[in-house]
Amino acid sequence: MLRVIGCALLLAGAAPLTQAADEATGRALYEGRMPLSAPACVDCHRPSGMGNFEGGLVVPPITGPMLFNALDTDTAHFFARSKRFRVRPAYDDASLARLLRTGIAPDGVTMQPEMPRYAIGKAELRELTAYLRGLSATPAAGIDADTVRIATITTPDADPARRDAMLATLNRFVAQKNGQSRQEVRRAVNATRTQEMAMYKKFRVWQLDHWALRGEPATWRAQLDAWQVRAPVFAVVAGLGGATWAPVDGFCEARRIPCLLPLVDGEVRAAGAFYSLHYHAGLPLDAALAARELKARGIVAFSVHTGRLDDTAAEPPASALADQVRAAFTREGLREQADRAAGAEGFARAEGSASPAGGSGLSAIVSLLAPEAQAAWLRQSRPDALVVWLPATHALGRRELDAVLPLMPRGMVVTPMRTGDELDRALNRARVWAASQKLGGQALDVTASTLQAATVLGEGLAHIDFAFSPEYLLELLEHGLENVIPWSPYPRLAIGPGQRIASKGSWVGSVSDGTVAWRWQSAP
Ligand code: HEC
Repeated sequence: MLRVIGCALLLAGAAPLTQAADEATGRALYEGRMPLSAPACVDCHRPSGMGNFEGGLVVPPITGPMLFNALDTDTAHFFARSKRFRVRPAYDDASLARLLRTGIAPDGVTMQPEMPRYAIGKAELRELTAYLRGLSATPAAGIDADTVRIATITTPDADPARRDAMLATLNRFVAQKNGQSRQEVRRAVNATRTQEMAMYKKFRVWQLDHWALRGEPATWRAQLDAWQVRAPVFAVVAGLGGATWAPVDGFCEARRIPCLLPLVDGEVRAAGAFYSLHYHAGLPLDAALAARELKARGIVAFSVHTGRLDDTAAEPPASALADQVRAAFTREGLREQADRAAGAEGFARAEGSASPAGGSGLSAIVSLLAPEAQAAWLRQSRPDALVVWLPATHALGRRELDAVLPLMPRGMVVTPMRTGDELDRALNRARVWAASQKLGGQALDVTASTLQAATVLGEGLAHIDFAFSPEYLLELLEHGLENVIPWSPYPRLAIGPGQRIASKGSWVGSVSDGTVAWRWQSAP
């Protein structure tokens, strides 16, 4: 019935409306939200339509420009990596229908069986074709022949000094990048046509905006939408967040903007997301790993210490980050203890007794403080209970560990990053860069993570060549993230298709008598 109405509208001259409806349905078919007689196109040709070349199977690009133009020896330059590249005429509606139904391409070649044959009706064909014609056919928002616009996002609860370190790093990186680009453009102008095709990179100038969110998280989405409408960006890079990042992830997903590697303490929304790439699953993962370790040691209760040095009130402190930790600990079956003093006493008693394990009075204090504040708190209050320290996005170099561990006679540290001497070595590259930019005084871990995010964007943009689609940028990173120069304190970064968390675990450190023994724990 709906299809009949669609035809009637078409006849009545409402073509644009019908076409938009066709494209929307076509997209649903392509992405598998509406069923076809065989697996959805997106499974193999990917969201961008640019295909895939993993595991020996070459899935060709089927974007509008690729499909509905002839493939000639010029376009072949784009497919250096594809053994099965063919010269073939352009598809049209009829030859695409034949290909999908019979597997025979316009050049007479029969597709390998990996390309399914579809029992597909007329209406579905029209809808799918409409979608494919538009797929990656027009450049995405925020990018033109000369410029790519990018933004970095900070939340109001981000630490101001670390925010400024992030911004300074990014500004310098962009200035450097643009200086370099001008030289590259000059070189490219002199290149022969073939070289130009091979390195189709357009050396666009990066234009960076800082989107500083204000107010309550419930209002962030509207702020982001307004910025994107006023001056659209192609990608969001680095950034700094505290407890809440979900509205940003939601924005990136809805607006189809790649949002690459912000430093976020709290929970990130990764399940099912395509456009947000994160370093790590955030504090809830660290908390879950800590809670498991506590249970294994027979500790069943906890309290959370968030900030104030005189934080001895019986009423548990409230903050969004502490709430995420509470939720993670409670999910693991631990019980929150409001009266911390009783817990500490219980712990001391049980430790003094012959068999400490299994004592129901054992309690831990969970601290979310940054390294300096953690040292100050421990020095002042010398807590009696076992201390679990979750420093989130603060990296722990030799200096940070030496300042805190001697004050923590027994406890646990859970961190997503490298630590100690190994961290200090890993940050050398960033240290040299920061010194050369006269940014040596700022937080080096933030500098390093920011450089990492910017480098990842640079690599992605350098390789997306003629298919400037945000989807393709992320798909390229699924192949190439692990090969990008490592700057950051995080261990090896890599994502597979559909994965959006680059580092999939944390180090759990057991502290006793001022020394720590680290063990890598993968995310459950
Ligand atoms: C299971 C993986 C898979 C799925 C699903 C799939 N394809 Fe393919 N497709 C391939 C492979 C592999 C090839 C290349 C086969 C060859 O080279 O012989 C291909 C080739 C094509 C070609 C030929 C391109 C050219 O340049 O001649 C088109 C067009 C195409 N697919 C469209 C689609 C559409 C539209 C869908 C969804 C309705 C789809 N494919 C679903 C794997 C897949």
